This record gives sequence, C-alpha cells and structure tokens, in this order.
Amino acid sequence: MPLPIGIHDLSFATGEFALPHTILAAHNGTEIGKYHVGIGQESMSIPAADEDIVTLAATAAAPVVARHGSERIRTVVLATESSIDQAKSAGVYVHSLLGLPSATRVVELKQACYGATAGLQFAIGLVQRDPAQQVLVIASDVSKYDLDSPGEATQGAAAVAMLVSADPGLVRIEDPSGLFTADVMDFWRPNYRTTALVDGKESIDAYLQAAEGAWKDYSEQDGHALEQFAAFCYHQPFTKMAHKAHRHLLNYCGHDTQGDDVTRAVGRTTAYNRAIGNSYTASVYLGLAALLDQADDLTGRRIGFLSYGSGSVAEFFGGTVVAGYQDRLRTEANIEAVSRRRPIDYAGYRELHEWALPDDGGDHATPRQTTGLFRLSGISGHKRLYQAC
Ligand code: HMG
Repeated sequence: MPLPIGIHDLSFATGEFALPHTILAAHNGTEIGKYHVGIGQESMSIPAADEDIVTLAATAAAPVVARHGSERIRTVVLATESSIDQAKSAGVYVHSLLGLPSATRVVELKQACYGATAGLQFAIGLVQRDPAQQVLVIASDVSKYDLDSPGEATQGAAAVAMLVSADPGLVRIEDPSGLFTADVMDFWRPNYRTTALVDGKESIDAYLQAAEGAWKDYSEQDGHALEQFAAFCYHQPFTKMAHKAHRHLLNYCGHDTQGDDVTRAVGRTTAYNRAIGNSYTASVYLGLAALLDQADDLTGRRIGFLSYGSGSVAEFFGGTVVAGYQDRLRTEANIEAVSRRRPIDYAGYRELHEWALPDDGGDHATPRQTTGLFRLSGISGHKRLYQAC
C-alpha cells in the first residue's frame, strides 16, 4: 500500500477590489448575457496598488502556517506566471514575511497556469523521500490583458496555499498522471510586456486538445474511467471553460453530453472562480476549494483534476477525499475572502490597470489601499519593500 500523500490544508486569498462585469459591460456596450452566461463570469478581482503576487501569496499561506506551524516545512514552492523579478524567487519574500525557518529550500516555478500542479507533484516526490517533511506549495497570480481587448473580461487575481504532507487531511493525490505537452503560441507574455498576448479562439482549441491528450495518456497509464469520478476540477480561465472541457472529454469517451451531466460534474467547482476571474495557476485549486466547501459529503470519493497552462502543458490526475476533511475546511474564511472585496468603479479600475511601480531606482511609497495582512509599501533602489499590516 503506497504511503498516502496529498493536500493537508488549503487556504486562499484574493485582491482588495472587485470589478463587476456589469460595469465592464456598461463601459464597452456588451450585452451582459455574454459575460454572465457566455463566459460564466460575474466579477473579477483587481489587486490594490500595494498588493502583488507576494502579498497575495503571504496572505493565503499565513493561516496554513498559523494552523500547522512551520517546523516541518522544509520546502516552499511558489508557482506564478506574473513574476516580479527575473532572478529572485517571490517565495523568498513570502518566506520572510511568514517568518519561516532559514533551513528551508525556496524556489519559483513557471509554466503558465500549469505551474502549481508541477509544484504539487514535485512536493509529493519530496514527501515520499522523507514523510516527516511538509512542502508549502503556493500558486499566486495576477491576470492582466490589454484594456478594451477581448481578454479583458477574463482577468482576475488570487493565491492558493496548499500544505502537502503524508497522511493528508483533505485529498490524497493518486497515481497515475496523464501528461501532455505541445509547443503552441496560444497565449504568452514576453518579458517586456505587463499584459498577456492571446489568440482567444486558438487558446480554447489548444486547451481542449491538451485536455484530450492528457486524458488519453491517463487512460493509457491504466487510470480510472470517467464514471469513477464524483466531480472534476478544471483550470478555469472563465468558468464556462470547465463546462466546455468536460463536454469535450465526455464526447471523446463516447458519452452522451445531453442533460445535466456536465453541470453535475463541474458546477460546484465554479463558485469562487466565477467571482474572482482567472487566477492562472491558482484557478484549478480554487475550483477544489469551492467543491469541498459546497458539495455534500465527498468522503472516499474520487475527484479528477485537469490542469492546463498555455504554451502548452496539461496534466490529468485523480485524488480521493479523506475521512474527516469537513472539519479542516476553511469555508467561512473562503467566503469572506471573496465577499470582503470592495467594489470598484470603471475609472478606479482603469487607474489601477495603468498603475505601475516606478522603474527609476528612486524611493517611492505606494498608496495605502489594501486592508489585507501584508502590503507592498514601496520601492527603493529597485528593491521592493514589504510589510505586515
Ligand atoms: P470573445 O470574442 O469576446 O467572445 O472571446 P465570444 O464571441 O467567443 O463569446 C463568448 C461566448 O459568449 C460564446 O459562447 C458566445 O456564444 C456567448 P460559446 O460559443 O463559446 O459557447 N455569448 C452570449 N451568451 C449569452 N448571451 C449573450 C451572448 N453573446 C455571446 N448575449 C474569449 C472570449 C474567452 C476568447 C476572450 O475573452 C479571451 O480571449 N480570453 C483570454 C483567453 C482565454 O481565457 N482562453 C481560454 C483557454 S486558454 C487558458 O485557459 C490558459 C490561460 O488561463 C493562460 C495560462 O495558461 O496562463 C488563458
């Protein structure tokens, strides 16, 4: 019997502000049904000027460290595609803000929205080597497209922190994994740009092809049949994508896609993403949080995960929900993280979209906006300055 390893705890944080899609629709003359029904989004998180992937990551991880202590955490993996530095890992700032022991290995991972899943799998390998150790895997991203582009409606921001350990308290991650990589230019962000470039239609096709490829490999590795899963957490750039992807897999496997099957399989995973928007690496695990928070008892049930990162890499794997998981959920805090956001008007959103830290090497304080646990207080000599609030 292999040692059970998986997600022991999960906590998330999101940005200070929320832009309702009704406001974006009123600005650009879009029929609101396209956002609410067509892409399945109600609002998107907008970080304050003094928030970034570091403050989001630290805010997500602080409750995990508070609950479990840091004695067993010997590795921190921070996955992001909205990196703040080409050399220094954002995880090192988080390690400092959380007061983690110096005897810790810290690293940043990148492959678009897939990075956190690589982090989770690498963490499982480390725990297998020494089951006494725990790994803190953090996914933290801010999704930003050009103003007035089709991608604008699919922005968002969030961080998810997961503690990976032996005898996990929430979900035991299983073998095998189905893997898929293809070199496609569906979505990318060159180093000189703050906003992503995307071919929207091609990106949806690339996602579906990758989901199919990962599923095919999963089946060839003797994975379980679709019917053996109680629900599916898909990467959600917008929540309708989870429906599209599941319908695609059902069709690929020769199943009927009429009726409520798709909604039953993915509906409960979309609640947080629908309000937060695309949180890139964090999105598939926000789906897990929503599912665990809302579903009837899932003890012993198997969940399917499909992680996709443009460019592209995908992985399909299963996890079984463990007994007693309901006592370890953070449902109240999760709902609070979403509902505490302050609504922002269009002018305020646009100002934040255009706001950037000065790059002249001088001393600059950031406006005090966040009401979160940590803030980016400024920049001095090209060094970001962080503080606990
Ligand atoms: P668009 O051109 O604005 O929208 O692009 P559309 O015309 O395709 O309409 C969207 C849907 O709304 C359609 O439904 C319409 O029929 C429907 P579908 O045909 O797809 O089922 N619609 C309506 N429904 C109800 N009432 C109405 C109405 N009007 C239209 N009145 C797009 C949309 C998502 C492509 C765009 O926002 C975009 O480019 N987003 C960014 C790219 C993206 O999210 N791609 C997803 C796959 S790639 C991925 O997931 C990776 C990613 O997360 C990055 C990473 O890995 O790092 C992006």
